[in-house]
Amino acid sequence: MQSVIPRLTFLVFIFFTKALLIQSQTIHNNISYQVDSIIRLMTLEEKIGQMNQYSNDRKNTGPVINNLNHLEEIRKGRVGSMLNVTSVSRAKQYQEEAMKSRLRIPLIFGMDVVHGMKTTFPIPLAEASSFDLELMTKTAEVAAAEASAHGLHWTFAPMVDISRDARWGRVMEGAGEDTWYGCLVAKARVKGFQGKDYTDKRTILACAKHFAAYGAAIAGKDYAEADISENTLHQVYLPPFRAAIEAKVATFMSGFNDLNGIPATAHRPLMRDLLKGKWDFDGFVVSDWESVGELQNHRVAQNAKDAAKLASLAGCDMDMCSSSYISNLEHLVNTGDVDISIIDDAVKRILTKKFELGLFKDPFCYNNREAELKNEKINNRYRTLAREAGAKSIVLLKNNSVLPISDKVKNIALIGPLNTSKWDMLGNWVGMGKAEYVIPILDGLKASLPKSNITYIEGYDHKTNTTKELPYLSEFDIIIVTIGEKATESGEAKSKVDISIDQNQQSLVKKLKEDSGKPVIVLITGGRPLVFSAMEPYADAILMTWWLGVEAGNSISDVLTGQYNPSAKLPITFPKHSGQCPIYYNHKSTGRPWSADNQYTSRYIDEDVRPAYAFGYGLSYTTFEITTPVMSKKQYGYNENIRIKTLVKNTGKYKGKETVQLYLQDVVSSVTRPVIELCGFQQIELKPGEEKQIEFVLTNKDLGSFNLKNELITEPGIFKLFVGNSSDNLKQTEFELIE
Ligand code: GLC
Repeated sequence: MQSVIPRLTFLVFIFFTKALLIQSQTIHNNISYQVDSIIRLMTLEEKIGQMNQYSNDRKNTGPVINNLNHLEEIRKGRVGSMLNVTSVSRAKQYQEEAMKSRLRIPLIFGMDVVHGMKTTFPIPLAEASSFDLELMTKTAEVAAAEASAHGLHWTFAPMVDISRDARWGRVMEGAGEDTWYGCLVAKARVKGFQGKDYTDKRTILACAKHFAAYGAAIAGKDYAEADISENTLHQVYLPPFRAAIEAKVATFMSGFNDLNGIPATAHRPLMRDLLKGKWDFDGFVVSDWESVGELQNHRVAQNAKDAAKLASLAGCDMDMCSSSYISNLEHLVNTGDVDISIIDDAVKRILTKKFELGLFKDPFCYNNREAELKNEKINNRYRTLAREAGAKSIVLLKNNSVLPISDKVKNIALIGPLNTSKWDMLGNWVGMGKAEYVIPILDGLKASLPKSNITYIEGYDHKTNTTKELPYLSEFDIIIVTIGEKATESGEAKSKVDISIDQNQQSLVKKLKEDSGKPVIVLITGGRPLVFSAMEPYADAILMTWWLGVEAGNSISDVLTGQYNPSAKLPITFPKHSGQCPIYYNHKSTGRPWSADNQYTSRYIDEDVRPAYAFGYGLSYTTFEITTPVMSKKQYGYNENIRIKTLVKNTGKYKGKETVQLYLQDVVSSVTRPVIELCGFQQIELKPGEEKQIEFVLTNKDLGSFNLKNELITEPGIFKLFVGNSSDNLKQTEFELIE
């Protein structure tokens, strides 16, 4: 009798799994059938209308394009989507117009909900510092819940561009320089935005952007060409997009950039052959703002008609704001330049997503939660999450034992206008975020240290970056000064040649230290790695606080007071000098690896070749000891799990969380590989004196890389493995992978 029950359970399990698979396949077939039925009814103009997207009220996140009457265009069935529709009433109005069109095909509304809609969370680069993937999923879930309440169906996020050059202002929107980690973040955020399926109306379509290699812009100059090898394209820039597909991302966005001689928006090998061919992507591709029309600026198209032809044939399904498709595709189909099958494929992809969202069943199904918007305040649960996300994103770069601030400290000087600024805590791409929602640093500190006397001093004018008269400072017990970027200094079209913090701001730190002789704590705000070598010697503590959103003041205070022991790690290298950019930890060995003792090695004569702060670096108020990794044996076959163990001990006096990182080096490979490559991390929380063993398990696939035929392969041979708490603080072991 005993043996029957497990068998019965197994059979029941198989039955239900099969039933679910059949059901989802049936739904899929049913949608496909319905979409095909609609396409058969559509005129060519109506089909092309679905491929056309306009911006609401010309709220432009790009150059101004047209002054068409969108309502009339929608009524004629010449619009498939609107972006930047930020009110439920406006969304309803547009949708009502769409219901007056001949076939009543619903519109889809998109917007850049990048790090929050109403509740602004830390910028993506800050959240990436937390190395907390669940957290990133949760904040994306909240963003989707708030976006959908505003009537939105679709966010143009996550940005999964790998970025190795901090001169490029859009590093703020990504997950930093590491591809392996970028893949995990891409999946976490897609999962947060899209949920399990769209029957939950608090989920929206996500969009992997900007396809591809937009972050490889030459010299970090936004919109500049990306000219990289095929191997680098496959090894570094494409995997996060593939990861987004594995997470079932609904849409892609093609980039502005020229990629190896072909503009991404007209890149047939990339979109038609790789994305929709080899990768079998079943969603749709929207162009970036006006990038179809911009094919004329790239000088690959003589006119908008050529541009429409190139982009549609290349696999770009929807034209954001350039009107190239709606103005030219009908002619191109009639002359045979573009086959109707190209149009039908694009329309099928777009209508399928509208079906999956439930818009055909009820075009207004995302317009019935207006009540949630009545409350002008931020939902407390969301605020709590934002405060947690902020604290987990703050990177402690230096601490001469002056942090955490004891509540016995009586007189604190808080210097710098960023301490009272609300807008600058939000950063860029803030959706419907408002400065009024923000807890600034001064307020957060006062709330966390009620017994202390906190004196705010402006100290410098952030508009002119000129320092101001300072009072007598020696009366204070501790000085906190906040410097760095305003919210307008990183983001799209914000590239810099010099990523140094303004010299006057840095000189202020020196003056504060020299005039007061007291502990000086420096808080740095910004959307990218910054250079501050000049002030570093005068700071007793330095924290990278990025742009943390609505709870910035509380998150920063939680860390300063030790409420939260900082645990974040840098997801992107901080250079000593702007001239080092692009600088990244996983660089190649070269034939002359850097050596301090040999001038004929890969280095500079006027600056150290090493960064100021390495990828993966971040301090805690406690200390951890990570032992040399051990492996049960020295040789592994291809089908074996490779197990690596290490002991982690909290050797300090505070409870804390350590992010133990695992890196590999393929000692000899047929294609050159980086000196080290991140291939694992685990976060572990330990009390003082507590120690735990952690184990990493790798398979041969984790050791692989792309060969020159763009195949992901794993070659046999010796591999080194490294564990540690930063890419520049590692202990190693090695093993041999044998065929
Ligand atoms: C912008 C950005 C893109 C954004 C789009 C719509 O120019 O490049 O990331 O999604 O236009 O706002």
